[in-house]
Amino acid sequence: MGKKSLCLLISCVLIAYYSYTPIPDKIEQQWELMMIWNFMRIQMHISTLLEMLGFRPFVLSDLLKVPPISDENVTVTDTLFNNVPVRVFVPKQKSSTLRRAVFYVHGGGWATGSAAWGPYDELGRWMVERLDAVVVLTDYRLSPQYHFPTQFEDVYDALRWFLRKKVLAEYGVDPSRICIAGDSAGGNLVAAVNQKLLNDPEIKIKVKIQSLIYPVLQALDMDLPSHRENIHMVIVEKEHLVEFWSRYFTSDKALLEAMVANQHTPVESSHLFKFVNWSTLLPERFKKGHVYTTPIHGPSELAKKYPGFLDVRASPLLADHSILRRLPLTHILTCQYDVVRDDGLMYLSRLRAADVRVVHEHVEDGFHGILSFGSSLINFRAGKREVNKYLKWLKENL
Ligand SMILES: *[C@@H]1O[C@H](CO)[C@@H](O)[C@H](O)[C@H]1NC(C)=O
Ligand SMILES: *[C@@H]1O[C@H](CO)[C@@H](O)[C@H](O)[C@H]1NC(C)=O
Repeated sequence: MGKKSLCLLISCVLIAYYSYTPIPDKIEQQWELMMIWNFMRIQMHISTLLEMLGFRPFVLSDLLKVPPISDENVTVTDTLFNNVPVRVFVPKQKSSTLRRAVFYVHGGGWATGSAAWGPYDELGRWMVERLDAVVVLTDYRLSPQYHFPTQFEDVYDALRWFLRKKVLAEYGVDPSRICIAGDSAGGNLVAAVNQKLLNDPEIKIKVKIQSLIYPVLQALDMDLPSHRENIHMVIVEKEHLVEFWSRYFTSDKALLEAMVANQHTPVESSHLFKFVNWSTLLPERFKKGHVYTTPIHGPSELAKKYPGFLDVRASPLLADHSILRRLPLTHILTCQYDVVRDDGLMYLSRLRAADVRVVHEHVEDGFHGILSFGSSLINFRAGKREVNKYLKWLKENL
């Protein structure tokens, strides 16, 4: 075989390897999705390679950052809330009444993403346009440079700064019409900070609505039906989820390996498993065809070294009934083809059992990150549809 045909063969194998990801029939625009997914995977592999060679990893989200550009309708400013960088969108039009506000936390596995990322910047502008709201997109320090609870504390510090009479007055915000929202790891941070906010006597102003978009809510059981069904799903594979989780707490590979085996929890944590027991918390249709196995516990050292994964600030699904009961109106969006789908569904069950008012949107043709796919950069039909539904819901309920 000549050199040329060998090169051709290798290229074909590589292309086939990259391109082949079975995408469920229900999901539309399969080819576009496949292209985006392959682009993301190539970027991840290059990034891993650079890291191995000792270079600073190249991150996709850096390429997607946009500057804070004001226009005739909105003033956009990058500023600091309690030393945490935030991007604030304020409608330019004068208003005779106070406005509603959305405090938004971006996703990205606690490791990537940014308030300056194009799709988030655009979501902020849409919220201004459709809701006439003041929008705050907050940043937080990322792993692996910073581990839990830095991300949680950054978001809490920024939120605390915002929820003060003086600051709200400055932005013309009605303290009784504030929503806190986030997607993916951002949904995790929103659920966690809101639980703390309810019990913080120093903060008198609470939020009216919380919105959790395909949130990640627990690090105890890495063998849920959605983990099994979506092990190789597009956008976030189970392998990535487990890696994001373990890197949230430490760069020590021992935790990652234990989490992959789902044997990272110590026997002393067995009382917490009732809060993540999918066999009691999932609706029938999501349990179908799956057999619940009692968790296998590992040695106690990991939890002693990295107690974060048993901490309610990282796994808000572990919160006590008495905390959950006081939560405000909650909007939860879950996607059928999403590895973290069951986290959202289990939280929904727990909130309902605690008599919290919950609105659930399950996207039957959705996958993780679908709202960001509605941005004009990607312009996915299902993404656009979900963004519009979401803005409509906020408009009617906030
Ligand atoms: C500003 O708002 C007006 C009225 O809604 C709209 O027609 C115009 O396109 C907006 N401008 C920008 C830059 O979005
Ligand atoms: C989970 O729930 C099932 C009943 O649905 C029960 O048999 C099992 O003991 C529970 N396991 C844990 C660890 O809570």
